[in-house]
Amino acid sequence: MNILVLNGPNLNLLGTREPSIYGHTTLPDIEAACIAHGKTLGLAVSCAQSNHEGALVDHLHAARGMMAGVVLNAGAYTHTSVALRDAITACALPVVELHLSNTHAREAFRHVSLIAPVCIGVIQGFGARGYPLALSALHGHLRGDTA
Ligand code: DQA
Repeated sequence: MNILVLNGPNLNLLGTREPSIYGHTTLPDIEAACIAHGKTLGLAVSCAQSNHEGALVDHLHAARGMMAGVVLNAGAYTHTSVALRDAITACALPVVELHLSNTHAREAFRHVSLIAPVCIGVIQGFGARGYPLALSALHGHLRGDTA
């Protein structure tokens, strides 16, 4: 099964961007870990990142029919983007929302996610370790695990 791990704005700067919040792991490290963890689950993981809302929408459109599911860290667009929410619905794929930080422990404007209602679940607050957790959760969902 093909899985897309899609990262949004400013996540290309992981490792040096506010490490007290987001940690020291870089995006290439995260992507390599996703590919390696995917292999252990029998998933073929592709990774993409963009700082542009429309490009993220394009990635979701391209995933439609090609991927079995998506792990999405939409960054700040999580809190603002109706377009991304609509693209998640339009691509008709199971999407796991992911955040490195616990957004509920941060500023009030980060407490609202426009995309959460159209995702199958949310993993947040576990730093870079959240990505393999999200892949395992998506894998379980795709297998129909109920536990
Ligand atoms: C983030 C949380 C968002 O609020 C923020 O805008 C980000 C990163 C996270 O992974 O914790 O860019 O999605």
